[in-house]
Amino acid sequence: MTFTIVPYGERHGKKGCGKEGFDCGNPALNLYLARYAGQDVRRHYAALFAAVRNDTDRIIGYYALSNASVRLRDVHEGLRRRLPKYPEIPAIRLGRLAVDKSVQRQGIGAELLGDAILRSLTNVAAWSVMAVDAKDEKARSFYLRFGFDSIEGDNMRLYAMRQDLEAYLPAGVAFSLSQKPHIII
Ligand SMILES: CC(C)(COP(=O)(O)OP(=O)(O)OC[C@H]1O[C@@H](n2cnc3c(N)ncnc32)[C@H](O)[C@@H]1OP(=O)(O)O)[C@@H](O)C(=O)NCCC(=O)NCCS
Repeated sequence: MTFTIVPYGERHGKKGCGKEGFDCGNPALNLYLARYAGQDVRRHYAALFAAVRNDTDRIIGYYALSNASVRLRDVHEGLRRRLPKYPEIPAIRLGRLAVDKSVQRQGIGAELLGDAILRSLTNVAAWSVMAVDAKDEKARSFYLRFGFDSIEGDNMRLYAMRQDLEAYLPAGVAFSLSQKPHIII
């Protein structure tokens, strides 16, 4: 099975079909794709990217990106020490990362995260921290594997520094990677 990660709607026109039956196991994320994704994209509330199967055009995963700022006091100590002492830090928020249950644990979530980092690195607006809100403990474990960390008392809100995310990407990776088909056997 191969898939390509594309801006939401690029393969599916305005109707955004290809998302029927999407089930990542989290009702709120399923509902978001089914009902709100299209309108959020149209209104520029979120930039949404979808992993689309090349054979069937079905959406098997998605994530959203938006600009954000985080309060210096809200990030964990390790990160705070490396940031300038401004009260607000420019950030990118990665929201709603989801993969269809039928293809979970095959590396697609990691591919989507890598794609999100690549696209964020090409964002002309400055950002130095990526923020994510984990929906539950499982999602939190997923992000912890990629160098995200949280502060005590707010376990589900995680942050990673831009440099650390860049280091996670394979060496010499091209920015055009997102447009190439991803292959999962
Ligand atoms: C979280 C989610 C996006 C992960 O997607 P995925 O395609 O299954 O993840 P991957 O196969 O790319 O896994 C990447 C790594 O994370 C690990 N991982 C995946 N799911 C995990 C889980 N539930 N708990 C702990 N580790 C997990 C994998 O083992 C893998 O590590 P490895 O390469 O060392 O084996 C997916 O499970 C999902 O959509 N969950 C429901 C929605 C959700 O909670 N989204 C998070 C939004 S906050």
